[in-house]
Amino acid sequence: MSATARWTAAARAVETRRADALFTDELAEALAGPEGFARWERYDNPGTTEFLAIRTRWLDEVVARSARPQVVLVAAGLDTRSVRLRWPDGTVLYELDHSDLVEWKEKRLAELGARHRCERHAVGADLTGPWDESLRAAGWDPSVPTLWIVEGLLFYLAERDARTLLERLASLSAPGSVLAGDLIAHQSMISEFTREGLARLRADGCPWLWGTDRPAEFLDSCGWPASEVRLPGEDGASYYRWPWPPLPRGTLGFPMNYLFTATRPA
Ligand SMILES: C[S@@+](CC[C@H](N)C(=O)[O-])C[C@H]1O[C@@H](n2cnc3c(N)ncnc32)[C@H](O)[C@@H]1O
Repeated sequence: MSATARWTAAARAVETRRADALFTDELAEALAGPEGFARWERYDNPGTTEFLAIRTRWLDEVVARSARPQVVLVAAGLDTRSVRLRWPDGTVLYELDHSDLVEWKEKRLAELGARHRCERHAVGADLTGPWDESLRAAGWDPSVPTLWIVEGLLFYLAERDARTLLERLASLSAPGSVLAGDLIAHQSMISEFTREGLARLRADGCPWLWGTDRPAEFLDSCGWPASEVRLPGEDGASYYRWPWPPLPRGTLGFPMNYLFTATRPA
């Protein structure tokens, strides 16, 4: 079972306890379990928990304004948007992740009495393999526009696997499909401020593998012209939660996380 999925679930549980929470995820604490909270403490560098809260809220808003008839959480982990969010009538939600995680999550959600607010299909798949067959078998229709969410995933894949995945999403997508998610900067991989955190992730067998300082160019080269790229703290991605002024683009030596949306041209 993915330790990083438990970590981000714990971060959502921590956010949920705040009086000024950016969202409420009532299932996160139970899904994270003690291991999730241990990981959250182990990886809690300055800005990390704030960023995870901002990322969740920002992507919640992307879902609210860009939901397509089909929404796919690519590497859904222990995400509970199917329960937390209100979905337009007729939305079909697909959740992709490793089979062991999907099996565990389905069992645990049933034990917790989770009530999904849209039609939902959880699909076990390796995203570095021929995953789209499994998605089609679950009912996903390539002729219908899709919102793909790649949240907390791309930097855990080798760069060539991340590129192959995004190119595959582009080639499968009907015009008007949207991609949303996050990337880390190459600066995050080489900054002195992340050295210890990266070493811990590596030691735990879940290393961050790459980043890019040119997120829009990277997305474009994968077939996804960027509509929006935001750093936490910038307009629309602050929520009064980011503790520092946003870094000027191109700053060297500091870790950065990019939030993005991109749209397949009609
Ligand atoms: C940091 S978690 C993020 C989960 C979720 N999107 C969130 O934000 O809480 C990364 C997720 O990617 C999944 N993952 C990583 N590599 C994968 C692969 N090759 N195939 C399927 N899932 C993968 C892990 O199982 C894990 O659930």
